[in-house]
Amino acid sequence: MFKTLRPAGNLPFRFASRSCRGRQAYHVVGNVARRRDGVAPPPPKDPVAYEKEIYDKGLRYERPRFTFQTTKWQALAEERMSAEAKGYVVGNAGDGETARKNSEAFAKWSIVPQRLVKTDGLPDLSVDVLGQRHPFPIAVAPVGVQRIFHGEGELASAAAAARENVPYVMSTASSTSIENVAEANGVGVRWFQLYWPTNEHNDITASILQRAKASGFTTLFVTLDTYILGWRPSDMDNGYNPFLRSDNIGVAIGFSDPVFRSKFKAKHGVEIEQDLHTAASEWTGTVFPSLSHGWEDIKFLQDNWDGPIVLKGIQTVADARKCVEHGVQGIVVSNHGGRQVNGGVGSLGMLPRIVDAVGDKLDIFFDSGIRNGADIAKAMALGAQMCLVGRPYVYGLALGGEDGVSHVLKSLLGELELTLHLAGIQSASPEHLNREILIREDQL
Ligand SMILES: Cc1cc2nc3c(=O)[nH]c(=O)nc-3n(C[C@H](O)[C@H](O)[C@H](O)COP(=O)(O)O)c2cc1C
Repeated sequence: MFKTLRPAGNLPFRFASRSCRGRQAYHVVGNVARRRDGVAPPPPKDPVAYEKEIYDKGLRYERPRFTFQTTKWQALAEERMSAEAKGYVVGNAGDGETARKNSEAFAKWSIVPQRLVKTDGLPDLSVDVLGQRHPFPIAVAPVGVQRIFHGEGELASAAAAARENVPYVMSTASSTSIENVAEANGVGVRWFQLYWPTNEHNDITASILQRAKASGFTTLFVTLDTYILGWRPSDMDNGYNPFLRSDNIGVAIGFSDPVFRSKFKAKHGVEIEQDLHTAASEWTGTVFPSLSHGWEDIKFLQDNWDGPIVLKGIQTVADARKCVEHGVQGIVVSNHGGRQVNGGVGSLGMLPRIVDAVGDKLDIFFDSGIRNGADIAKAMALGAQMCLVGRPYVYGLALGGEDGVSHVLKSLLGELELTLHLAGIQSASPEHLNREILIREDQL
C-alpha cells in the first residue's frame, strides 16, 4: 500500500560521503557502499557483543567511559550542560504531568517470561518498516538545536546512528544544514522531519523537501503537534528560546535555504548575514507559524514528496483513521515527550487502541517515554513497529558526542536483546513479541 523506494534489505547507498570526523570514509561502487579501503561496511554487530567487550576490558581493569545505568544519564548530562540547554532538553509543558505519565505508563504493563523456549541464538531484532528490513527496531528521534548540547551537534548523532545501523531522523530545527548532516550520516538510513510552514510559504516547503530528497533522505516525517512551541516554564525562566538567537543555532536550515534567502532579500533589501536578528525571527515564524494546517493540506506534501510520509504526534484513534483516509504510510504515536500539552495522556496508553484501529493499514512508530530496553519491548508488544529514542541519546550526546550517542543506542539495544532472550521471546517480530507476553499490573 505504500510506495516502496527500494527492495527490502537494500540500504540507500546512493550518496558518497564521509563521516563528520573522517572516521569511517565511504564511497559508492554500483549500488554497494564500500569503505575507501575497499571493504564493505560490516554487518550490524549483535548488541550483546558490547557487553562482552566491556567485561573483557574489565579483566584488564579498564572501566567503561559511560555508565550503563540508564537512569543516571540525565543527571550526568545535566552536569555538562548550560542552564539554558538543560532547561531546553529536560523541560516540559507546564508542570510536566504529561511527561510523568509517559514514564508511568510503562510500569502499568509487565513482561511475563516464558521458560524452556529452545532457541539456536539470540533473538532477531530486525523489523520490516516502510517496505524496508531494518536490523533494529529503533530510530533516532528528530531533535533540534543539538549544538547547544555538544559542539558537533547533529553531525555527531547522525554519524553515531549510521555507525549503529539505526535510522536517523533529522529535524527541521537542526543546527546543521541538511547537506552536512547527510554527509555525516554517510551510508546510514536517514529520514527527514518537517516543521511545516504555512501554505503562503509552500515554495520554501518545496525547497526544503527537494534538498532533503537530493541529500538521500528517504522518508518524510511531518510533526503535527508543534506549530508553536508549548508553554515551557523552564525555558521561560531562562528567557531562552534557542530559535530566536542570531547564532545560527536552530535556524541553520533556513539560513542555508535558497528560497528563504531570496525571499528575505526581496523583502528587506539585505542578505540574512546583514540582519541576523530579523532573519532568525522570520525563520522561526516560518517553521513555527502559530497556526495548524488542515487535513486537506496533506496533498501538497504528497505532491512534493515521492517517498513514504509519516505523520508524527498522533494521539487519537480518530486522527489515526484520518491518516489512513489521507493515504499516508505511517504515524508516530507521540506527544512530543510531554513538551507540548500538559495534563495529557501518557503516549503508551493510547498505543494499543490506535494499533487495533489502524495497525493493519499503516506503519506505527512510537515515542515519548522510551528510557530503556524493556520500554522498547513493551511498546513493540503493544503493536509499535519501531520506537523513536529521544532524550536518552541527547544525554549521550552531551556526555560524549558521537561516542556518547553510540553508547546509548548500543545500551538500549543490548538490554532489549537480553530482555527478549531471557523472557523466551524469540524475535522482535509480532509473531513472538505481542500482547501475549504482557500482563496489566492492575489485573494482578
Ligand atoms: C530537546 C528536544 C528537542 C526536540 N526537537 C524536536 C524537533 O525538532 N522535531 C520533532 O519532531 N520533535 C522534536 N522533539 C521531540 C522528539 O522527537 C520526541 O518526540 C520526544 O523526545 C519523545 O519523548 P522522550 O524523549 O521523552 O522519550 C524534541 C525533543 C527534545 C527533548
